[in-house]
Amino acid sequence: MVFSMFENLEILQFPDERLRRLSRPVESFNRDLKTLADKMLEIMYDSNGIGLAAPQVNQTIRLIVIDVSEDRDNPCIFVNPKIKEPAGSVDSSEGCLSVPEIRTTIKRYENIILEYQDLNGERHEETLGDLMSICVQHEIDHLDGKLFIDYVPDVKLQRLRKKIAKNKKNQLPTEGTTVRVV
Ligand code: NI
Repeated sequence: MVFSMFENLEILQFPDERLRRLSRPVESFNRDLKTLADKMLEIMYDSNGIGLAAPQVNQTIRLIVIDVSEDRDNPCIFVNPKIKEPAGSVDSSEGCLSVPEIRTTIKRYENIILEYQDLNGERHEETLGDLMSICVQHEIDHLDGKLFIDYVPDVKLQRLRKKIAKNKKNQLPTEGTTVRVV
């Protein structure tokens, strides 16, 4: 079946080494690319995430999907995304669908210019700020095999892990559950 190739996509979980691979640029803007993007949006919405990168579902190509809208009705698809002129610095509270339960604050650029192609291969350029800027940076990191916890010192990461283990034991909700997951 031609279109069954993306039926069983699953989100890879840290420490899966496949999350560390460098994704290659998209060269064919064909029907498979659109099918994959649609499937990724579906998985993202089902998982209550605001973004998903292709390597998270074991597809090592430079494709990301994002929806930061309150009503979850503004799907964005960026192919071969590139950041230009990063500026400013902002505290970003993040989680990741591939790193369950860890939530922490890291530094991101406040504003970026994003160069990308759409599903037809048309080139675009957009100035982004706020959550969209942060989310794009997080997803592009995935394309380069990088995870948000790489920005966190080991000591702090161990503390976070302990806290999660303790919360599980006491059946308390994990801290930071309101943080949106990318
Ligand atoms: Ni992520």
